[in-house]
Amino acid sequence: MSLTTPARRAFEELVAERGILFGGDYNPEQWDPAVWREDVALMQQAGVNLVTVGVFSWAMLEPTPGAREFGWLDEVLDLLHGAGIAVDLATPTASPPPWLGIRHPETLPVDRDGVRLIPGSRNQFSPSSRVYREHAVAISRDLATRYAAHPAVRMWHVGNEYGQIDHGDEAAREFRGWLRARYGTIDALNTAWGTAFWSQRYADFDEILPPRRMPYLVNPTQSLDFRRFTSDQMLVCYRELRDTIRDAGALQPITTNFMGFFAHVDYRSWAEDIDVIADDQYPDPASAESPIATALIQDLMRSLGDGRSWMLMEQAVSATSWRPHNLPKTPQRARRDSLQAVARGADAICYFQWRQARAGAERFHSAMLPHAGADSDVFRGVVRQGEDLQRLSRSGRVLGSRIDARVAVLFDWSSWWAGEEPARPTERLSTMEQTTRWYRQLWRRGVAADIVGAASDLDGYDVVLVPHAYIVRPETADALRRAAERGAHIVVGPFSGVADDNAQVLQGRSPVLLRDLLGVSGEEWSGMPDEPTPLTGGLLTGGGDVRWSASGHTAGILAERLRAEGADVLLTYAHGDLFGIPAVTRNRVGDGAAWYLGTVVSDSVLSLVIGDALAATGVDGALGGSAELPDGLEAVCRGDVVFLLNHSAASIDIPMPPGLVDLLTGEKTESVVALRAGDVRVLSERHDS
Ligand code: GLA
Repeated sequence: MSLTTPARRAFEELVAERGILFGGDYNPEQWDPAVWREDVALMQQAGVNLVTVGVFSWAMLEPTPGAREFGWLDEVLDLLHGAGIAVDLATPTASPPPWLGIRHPETLPVDRDGVRLIPGSRNQFSPSSRVYREHAVAISRDLATRYAAHPAVRMWHVGNEYGQIDHGDEAAREFRGWLRARYGTIDALNTAWGTAFWSQRYADFDEILPPRRMPYLVNPTQSLDFRRFTSDQMLVCYRELRDTIRDAGALQPITTNFMGFFAHVDYRSWAEDIDVIADDQYPDPASAESPIATALIQDLMRSLGDGRSWMLMEQAVSATSWRPHNLPKTPQRARRDSLQAVARGADAICYFQWRQARAGAERFHSAMLPHAGADSDVFRGVVRQGEDLQRLSRSGRVLGSRIDARVAVLFDWSSWWAGEEPARPTERLSTMEQTTRWYRQLWRRGVAADIVGAASDLDGYDVVLVPHAYIVRPETADALRRAAERGAHIVVGPFSGVADDNAQVLQGRSPVLLRDLLGVSGEEWSGMPDEPTPLTGGLLTGGGDVRWSASGHTAGILAERLRAEGADVLLTYAHGDLFGIPAVTRNRVGDGAAWYLGTVVSDSVLSLVIGDALAATGVDGALGGSAELPDGLEAVCRGDVVFLLNHSAASIDIPMPPGLVDLLTGEKTESVVALRAGDVRVLSERHDS
């Protein structure tokens, strides 16, 4: 459990004072001062109460080395403050001015092929560059010193979407330092990396390089450690700027914007350092599955903050412009996306960006105020959202309230990284894909879940899903066992518990550390034919209570040659080389159970297994029970408020206790709530205003 710090309390106070925070990135440096005045008036019309300023303003603040041009920013902050709009002030450090890279080419990142990236886009810096870091600290120190006590500034925003990867010489130097700290001796590193293989043994740390382009496959532990280092190195940069802001006397909460399940930063290892978890979310309107993937990300963000409310820092109000083909969001979809985030614990709903850029690479990315101006459906939708959020704030039922989850989904970055290194039985097994498929079973039932890590405390959970944990550490195996013994149902997916923390394959019948827990063990993982393999069985022997229909279930992608060692065999392969081999098992452990899926099963099997685990432990969804909800219906309980979101194109009738108040309209419900296509209801037993 993380501590409530003064800065975290300051965020809660800001929300209590202003209501749900609503706004977006504001880039006034792209416009004349006359436009700023129009902006502020329209922000007030839309109920905007927070804007992020200065994310890409370094070249304006420091046009030549060492110069400081703060006058324009003074004016902008005063203007916003005068209009009652709070500011999340950004260090401009995500995008250095061109002169930095030109004068100091060593600040520029080098890619895997040795190509040095040049100015002219953004993010052209190496997190390992000393010169970059000195300049970033200097401009941030002066910014924070000047504005720490400015009444408009209520938050700080460090950098933007950290994700810079450098393979250059400075990165090599820092990587070696990181490895020395991790391993102490070169012998320990050689052992951990298994360098006896392919004559890779190092005599000294100085011989080690980042995984640049190599003739053939890279040592997988070197690759894993470089990913860990890269994430840690960006955290070093974040901390340096956060401390700079604090040292300048700023007391406001400090954050940076995450990017969901971003592959280059282990956000779990960052979470303690962030006062308010903030995330950028860009669901693709073209994908019917996007609400599910987004819900999973939102549950991750809430979990990273130990259940505290989080900020949706960026989203698109209509279309993005960075996909090859960009479908717009309707205003109704944009509203639903915002309310989905509130349902899943956000107390801030912000956009990229306030005014659509007329120039530059993002000129076609939508914004709250589009090229067409205020006389547009997009802007009218924004105004409506501002009103909706204020209504929810005034209801007193939503802000700061929490979500109780009895289900945990295990997701660990190191395991993700190591599990997706090339040269494995199949490249078709994707951690993210499997995690999303499993999570979908919870989403479909309106069941709340926390997304936990390999070292998380599992005490409060009745069901723990482990869709794909390639690395399983002894502590994680123990925690899973303890959870099962006290009555939880653990469900483990294929190719889990394969490797140790150094990505070395554990020796013995697999999954070595989970073998006792699962009551089953295997030898040899192998890819499966393209045609789905039928599974058969479904009736538990020995007094078990599982009664599944045996038809229609299939498996594919990867199989493990399993042998039951005490577990009940629920499904076996119906033909082929694997005929008769267990595919799905369940082991009674203490008061609980441990299920094992030794292959990638069809959704029909996932539904049965996860449905049974929920039913056996009495975990209910937001609407009671654990049955699947109608297609496209998302139901979430936040505190004692139920959010119903209809993502489908058809109206859905939902039986509900009559007399609930819709916090968005003030209307009382009948015994059936008719939720129109695309619509949202936020229902409460009480209404405070
Ligand atoms: C990210 C960035 C923004 C902008 C948007 C566009 O979230 O942080 O600066 O580029 O993407 O979608």
